[in-house]
Amino acid sequence: MTDKIIIFDTTLRDGEQSPGYSMNTAEKLHFAAQLEKLRVDVIEAGFPSSSAGDFEAVQMIAHKVSNVEVAALARTSKEDIDAAWGAIKEAAHPRIHIFIATSDIHLQHKLRMRRDQVISKAVEAITYARRFTDNIEFSAEDGSRSDRDFLCTIFEAAISAGATTVNLPDTVGYAIPSEFAELVAYVKEHTPNIGKAILSVHCHNDLGLATANTLASINAGARQVEVTVNGIGERAGNTSLEEIVMALHTRRGYLDFFTDINTKEIYPSSHLLVMITGIPVQPNKAIVGANAFSHEAGIHQDGVLKHRTTYEIMEPTTIGLETNRLVLGKHSGRHAFKDRLRGLGYDLPDQEIDKIFQRFKELADKRKEIVDDDIEALVAEEILRVPDIFKLRYLNVVGGTDAIPTATVQLEIDGKVEQDAGFGVGPIDATFNTIAEITGTHSKLLHFSIDSLTSGTDAQGIVTVQLEEDGIKTLGKGNDPDIIVASAKAYINGLNRLEHLRRNSHSEKTA
Ligand code: KIV
Ligand code: ZN
Repeated sequence: MTDKIIIFDTTLRDGEQSPGYSMNTAEKLHFAAQLEKLRVDVIEAGFPSSSAGDFEAVQMIAHKVSNVEVAALARTSKEDIDAAWGAIKEAAHPRIHIFIATSDIHLQHKLRMRRDQVISKAVEAITYARRFTDNIEFSAEDGSRSDRDFLCTIFEAAISAGATTVNLPDTVGYAIPSEFAELVAYVKEHTPNIGKAILSVHCHNDLGLATANTLASINAGARQVEVTVNGIGERAGNTSLEEIVMALHTRRGYLDFFTDINTKEIYPSSHLLVMITGIPVQPNKAIVGANAFSHEAGIHQDGVLKHRTTYEIMEPTTIGLETNRLVLGKHSGRHAFKDRLRGLGYDLPDQEIDKIFQRFKELADKRKEIVDDDIEALVAEEILRVPDIFKLRYLNVVGGTDAIPTATVQLEIDGKVEQDAGFGVGPIDATFNTIAEITGTHSKLLHFSIDSLTSGTDAQGIVTVQLEEDGIKTLGKGNDPDIIVASAKAYINGLNRLEHLRRNSHSEKTA
């Protein structure tokens, strides 16, 4: 019989905690709604005890989604479990996810505990969490480097205490597929009560083997996989959702498993994550990279034209990559615009629609055709971002072969208008220097990139900056047909996010 593989998505927890990927509550909520459309089985929404901001976001996601389980992460302490339950108790299907490390390396150097103490901690925590729900997942952190018999013992104890899912993470991405599959099979064979729980895996990609390890473990008996969209996550990331789902889908004759994922929502989910975080996926990324379905070599193009299957193993439409995107223009009315927003998954209040419709009209005055990517970029910029402390009111730059690059900038800061002018080696440098002067900030610019959303010289420029101040790093994004304006917006967005992060520090996160 074909077995179902449970898709546990941790983009909003393991993914979000990696540098540069932090999202605000509105962004997380929007992404969670997309995950529900994608039909993942479980959304790991966050780690509520790590910060007030995380608690609030998990709580709001728990209210928002109804057809999917919402998991919250907790260490083995009562405080963590209380926070996790506090955040998800209103969810239609809540799950508490408790973890503790099990490898000798972690026991000796991090926890300074003996194995029997770790078992007691895990059992106590699961027993405590059972007061709230019987949907409990237990994770043995650094499982792949743990003693295999100890793993079986702690899983047996966890299941006896009430865990319904036991998760075996390759926390440091150290495993090799054949070895990991053997470990999964061993755990399945030597944990006496494993039949009462779902065996899950959670792989990191440090050696580029996360997908291979996850697939190997499915063949060996794992029935839940922990994944992220675009493979984002700690260090080199987690197993990528789209790779696992499409491997199972494309090779279903060979791999006798299925998922409930709506594959047509794979590309929209990947794209939304890029829009929200401003971090693009590498062009050659499997399934969702820009080149994943493009054929450059003449022989390949010729083959595909003769018969698609010569060089294409998947159809782009299967992952929701539509080529005929709807185009709007300056004559499109508010009604058509609202319809398109709905079609893209944005059911927004009238006030917010008015705000982006205004920006849409401004853009349509400058450009003939506005496509879905443009609209999504406007939504990401106008609606999903953190409330701005600094707002751009006016920008005028001087540049060119014989000019001294100069920028005149007017900002609104807490309702007051401030202005200044400054110089730089180029107009963008002059703009950034002047903004830093007005805001009194001293951030370091770690990264700056300009991309375009569509082709043509009238395309919207999309600028991403990475800033660091006082040890806090963040991204800023801005888009505009004028790349200097887009750069100023990205820089100001970065400063706003730095300020926001300073207020809701994520530094307590430890998982
Ligand atoms: O990588 C890991 O071990 C984790 C656990 C919390 C599941 O993220
Ligand atoms: Zn992890």
